Amino acid sequence: MSSFFEAQGLNYSVRSQSRSFFQPRPARPILQNINLHLAERETLGIIGSSGSGKSTLARILSGLLQPDNGHVSLRGEDFTNATSDVRQKLRPEIQMIFQDPQGALDPRQTVREIVGEPLLPLSLTQEEREQRIVNVLRDVALPSNSLNRYPRAFSGGQRQRIAIARALITKPSVIIADEAVSALDVSTQAIILNLLLDLQERYGLSYIFVSHDLAVIRHISHRTAVLDAGHIVETGPTADIFSNPQHDTTRSLLAANF
Ligand SMILES: Nc1ncnc2c1ncn2[C@@H]1O[C@H](COP(=O)(O)OP(=O)(O)OP(=O)(O)O)[C@@H](O)[C@H]1O
Ligand SMILES: [Mg+2]
Repeated sequence: MSSFFEAQGLNYSVRSQSRSFFQPRPARPILQNINLHLAERETLGIIGSSGSGKSTLARILSGLLQPDNGHVSLRGEDFTNATSDVRQKLRPEIQMIFQDPQGALDPRQTVREIVGEPLLPLSLTQEEREQRIVNVLRDVALPSNSLNRYPRAFSGGQRQRIAIARALITKPSVIIADEAVSALDVSTQAIILNLLLDLQERYGLSYIFVSHDLAVIRHISHRTAVLDAGHIVETGPTADIFSNPQHDTTRSLLAANF
């Protein structure tokens, strides 16, 4: 049975930088043979040290980056090797939230423009679009007078609510969050994590949650995968990973975090 969202046999490498035109450029593997799956309404945490490949994996899973081989599919539909029609159909279904709420939002755009942007390719009337924007702002508990304001007028936590609203507006089934709360102070982190848990219930969302912060992953994930130098070395229910780690990498991550 094909799973709701899955990645199979993903490989990704980069050509190393070379000063000389004549020097060969060996490919450096960044991710190797990544397999993972995600059920509906489930959260999969991905942990790993800096440089282990978490962000690269997140970008491949969200379709921003093309793997060398392997595939990512939603409801059995492969979108890595898909025609542009299929890609266009699946694009609204998978959204991403990034770490830096400031950098991810265009300072010259109003909240209405930022949040409404993913709707532009969809054929909606002006009124439908406005209604969706108003509804999603309400769902992330941003004040209704936010619409005409610019990102700089908001706090870090509020800016992350704007980014979440933009991710939610296409009614996705999967949200991939890369260090989504890492730039926030601890109390704001807790508020945003609880908002994400609440939205998961209400929207029926599945999350892939990438973080170097194990406390965050422990709080939000049902299952956790451990990435080490481009390989998944261990995966299982979050409680098991944290109470009974099987791999040395997991043990040293736990030792460094707690
Ligand atoms: N475009 C690129 N060109 C060259 N190397 C790259 C590129 N993108 C990523 N890498 C390398 O791939 C590896 C994985 O990077 P990635 O950003 O995915 O790690 P990460 O686990 O997200 O790290 P962090 O916890 O610091 O965010 C790193 O060694 C990085 O230098
Ligand atoms: Mg990263």
